[in-house]
Amino acid sequence: MTKVITYGTYDLLHYGHIRLLERAKALGDYLIVGVTAEDFDKTRGKINVQQSLMERIEGVRATGLADEIIIEEYEGQKIDDIRRYHVDIFAIGSDWRGKFDYLNEYCKVVYLDRTEGVSSTKLRSEKHAIRLGLVGETSDLRKFRKESGYVNGAVISGVCGDEESEFQDLLEQSDAMYILSHPDVHARQIKAALEAGRHVLCESPIALSVQECEELFALAKEKKCVLMEAIKTAYSTAYYRLLLLAKSGRIGKVVSVDAACTRLEDEANVYPGQFNRSWGSLCDWGPTALLPVFQLLGTDYAEKQIITHYADEAKAYDAFSRVNFVYKDAMASIQVGKGIKSEGDLVVSGTEGYIYVPAPWWKTDYFEIRYENPANNKRYFYQLDGEGIRYEIVAFLKSIEDGRDNSYVDRHVSKAITGIMEDFYRKKDVREI
Ligand code: CTP
Repeated sequence: MTKVITYGTYDLLHYGHIRLLERAKALGDYLIVGVTAEDFDKTRGKINVQQSLMERIEGVRATGLADEIIIEEYEGQKIDDIRRYHVDIFAIGSDWRGKFDYLNEYCKVVYLDRTEGVSSTKLRSEKHAIRLGLVGETSDLRKFRKESGYVNGAVISGVCGDEESEFQDLLEQSDAMYILSHPDVHARQIKAALEAGRHVLCESPIALSVQECEELFALAKEKKCVLMEAIKTAYSTAYYRLLLLAKSGRIGKVVSVDAACTRLEDEANVYPGQFNRSWGSLCDWGPTALLPVFQLLGTDYAEKQIITHYADEAKAYDAFSRVNFVYKDAMASIQVGKGIKSEGDLVVSGTEGYIYVPAPWWKTDYFEIRYENPANNKRYFYQLDGEGIRYEIVAFLKSIEDGRDNSYVDRHVSKAITGIMEDFYRKKDVREI
C-alpha cells in the first residue's frame, strides 16, 4: 500500500484545495492530511485564519478524500509523521517548490501544480475587508500600519491627526478606528467614533476617569460596536503563556508581582515648552506595567500608593513613578520611567518558585521559571512577531466579525487601569517628590 501525506491550513476550503487533495490521493492508496493548528500557523505568519481548527478539519473530512486527518502542531513534525505513519510520498502545492526537498531523505517528495486564481488569503480579504482609519501622529502610527499589512481582512482607509474636521472625514471613510492620539483626547474621539457606529481599538488608557470608561463601554454596547483597549503585550505569546503557567500553580501561590518599564527619551525635546501636552511615564507606561499586576492578582487591591518624580517645575511631566499595591494576601509594585532608566524586568514570586522575564519583558520571546534547586529551572521560548500588534489586530477584527469579545484585556482590567490614571491626576494616594 502506498501512503501519501500532505499538509495545509485549509481555511475557507476552496477548489484549489480540493484539486490538490484529489491529485495527492491519486498518487497512492491512502491519504493522510495534516491540518495546521492555530498556534503553529501564527508562527508561520498566516494571520487571521477565519475558521477554527475543528471547522477546518470538518471541511477536509467533508471532501471524502482523506483516509486519515492529523493535526500539525510543531516545527519538524513532518519528519516524525513520515516515520511514524510509514509514509511513501510527501505531496504539496508548487508554491512550496524546493522548500521540502530535505524530506527526500525520508520519502519521495512531489510538488503538485497550484491551481491558479484562488487562495484562502484572497477569499479572506474579499470577504472581510474592514476599512481601518488611523488616528495619531504619522510617525507613531508607522509600526501599526506595518503590522496591519500582515493581517488579512483589513485595509487602511486613511490617517488623521487631532483636527476635528479631519477626524470626521476619516470616520466617514472607515468601518473602524485605531486611536493613538494624546490620552487627553481619547475619550472624546472614542465617543465620536462609537456614536457614528464605528468600532474602536484605542491605545491604553482609553479614558482618564472610571466614569468615562464605564460610559464608553456602555455606549459601545448600545451601538453594538466593539471597543477594545490596545495593550500589545497582552498579545505576546510568551507573556500570555506565562500568565497561564502562573495561574495553573507552577510557582505555587503568587504573592508578589514586580514590573518595570522605562525608556530614555527627552520628552522636553518632543514638546518643547509644552509640558502640559506631554505624556508622562505613568500614563504612557503605566497600562503595560499594570497589566501583569491586575491580570495575576486581580483588581481588588486593598490599598495603593503612587510615588512620583516630576521633571519640570510645573509638575506636568512625571519622569519616574512607582505604584505599590497591597492586596489581602499579596503585594505588587510597578516602576515606570520616561527619561529615567532602570532594569525593565518582570518578576512574579510564588510560594514554590518565581517567574523571571528579562528586560524588555513587555516585548519578550523568553522567560524562565526558577526554583530553589536550579536544576529544576525551566526556560520557555516563543516566537514574537510584531511585538504582539498583529495578533491584537486579529483579535479586534475577529471581535468585529463574530460580535464576541475576543480582547485579551478584560473590562475590569481596563477600568482598574483608568482608576489609577484618575487617582494620579487627581492626586489621590499620590506622594510627589
Ligand atoms: N493549494 C493549491 N492551489 C491553490 C491554493 C492552495 O494547490 N490555489 C494547495 C497548497 O499548495 C497546499 C494546500 O493546497 O498544498 C493547502 O494550502 P493552504 O495553505 O491551506 O491554502 P492557501 O489557499 O494557499 O492558503 P493561503 O492563501 O492562506 O496561503
